[in-house]
Amino acid sequence: MTKKLNIGLIGYGFMGRTHSNAYHKVTNFFDVPYEPVLQVVCGLEDKVAKAFAERWGYKSHTTDWHKVVEDENIDVVEICVPNNLHAEIAIAAAKAGKAICCEKPLALNVSQAEQMVKAVEEAGVPNLVSFNYRRVPAVTLAKQLIDEGRLGKIFHYRANFLQDWTISANVPQGGMATWRLDIKAAGSGVTGDLLAHCIDTAMWQNGSITDVCAMTETFIKERMHAETGKVEPVGIDDACTFLCHFDNGSLGNFESTRYARGHKALYTFEINGEKASIAWDLHDLHRLSYFDHSDESIVRGWRSIHVTDSDMPYMDKWWVPGLQIGYEHTFVHQVAEFLQNLAEGKSTSPDFREALATQYVCDAVLTSAKNKKWETVKKA
Ligand SMILES: NC(=O)c1ccc[n+]([C@@H]2O[C@H](COP(=O)([O-])OP(=O)(O)OC[C@H]3O[C@@H](n4cnc5c(N)ncnc54)[C@H](O)[C@@H]3O)[C@@H](O)[C@H]2O)c1
Repeated sequence: MTKKLNIGLIGYGFMGRTHSNAYHKVTNFFDVPYEPVLQVVCGLEDKVAKAFAERWGYKSHTTDWHKVVEDENIDVVEICVPNNLHAEIAIAAAKAGKAICCEKPLALNVSQAEQMVKAVEEAGVPNLVSFNYRRVPAVTLAKQLIDEGRLGKIFHYRANFLQDWTISANVPQGGMATWRLDIKAAGSGVTGDLLAHCIDTAMWQNGSITDVCAMTETFIKERMHAETGKVEPVGIDDACTFLCHFDNGSLGNFESTRYARGHKALYTFEINGEKASIAWDLHDLHRLSYFDHSDESIVRGWRSIHVTDSDMPYMDKWWVPGLQIGYEHTFVHQVAEFLQNLAEGKSTSPDFREALATQYVCDAVLTSAKNKKWETVKKA
């Protein structure tokens, strides 16, 4: 009999759904050492939490996250709430000896992130931060090709994450989903929300970032606050562009904005090496573009690899070659690895300490934009 593992989910929004879905699917597709039991869901509104519990199969619901963390019956705490709550919940969960899966970015700022790392390391609890894009099969394959040396020396890493949903001045700050525009809840704008993903993937594939030079802009300076009903100054960065050096000598070029009309979630990266290049696009997430300079010149060109064969990352667990999976599956992959590592008492990459490294880059980016100077990135 597989051991039961009791899950407590805090936050029933967008991420609450992706994490719940992953727990439902994981045992059907992966050999995992536990049978996850969805015990309790917590969120702000009792009625919504109750409906969520019924729909997703949680045994109970609450509006008080302390009850989840303090519940002796709970083994894993899933943190799927706005960024300003991550630190308090994670530190309490670590002290209570729970394994933790925390949504990204790790925290509001570096100081909170450092305290979170200290808490999980002192308590010795397995932990994971949900930078899920690493687990898109094509993105994982890109990492594999780099690690195999197929690109040779890497010269350039370029990443964008473009959206267009805050162009209207009528979008409020604060409240469900729009808490992202409220500096107190989000900590930063596109830097922590979107570039954190690009930075995590980039450092995983291409090594650490040593220094950065950034610019940010807040295009709409005041917005109505959903909680106070008053027009208040906007503190987040609407757009951010930064240059950087990687430890391996390559140059990085990153851009994110919520003002790129026509783009909903256009996360792309391109990596140029001495021997080959790779490009990827979230809107076509199952394809990896690959250019190999060693091909015979008359057939040399960009290949479009459909990442569905069973010898490609994760794909032996799903359907037959040629058939795709999607966004939600990245969370299933994440949970599968989390459970496998949990059985050995280990954390899963990226753990809190790795996410702290990303937080240091975000912090250096925001400081550089403010000071209009190159900033050195602290090492985690
Ligand atoms: N990995 C990804 O790709 C990804 C995508 C989106 C969001 N996120 C991250 O996930 C987290 C949640 O984002 P979301 O989009 O799911 O937000 P959301 O607005 O959809 O949901 C937030 C949830 O938090 C709950 N909540 C708020 N305050 C609470 C409190 N005091 N006690 C208990 N519950 C409370 C709300 O009830 C709601 O259920 C954020 O940290 C965000 O950055 C990650």
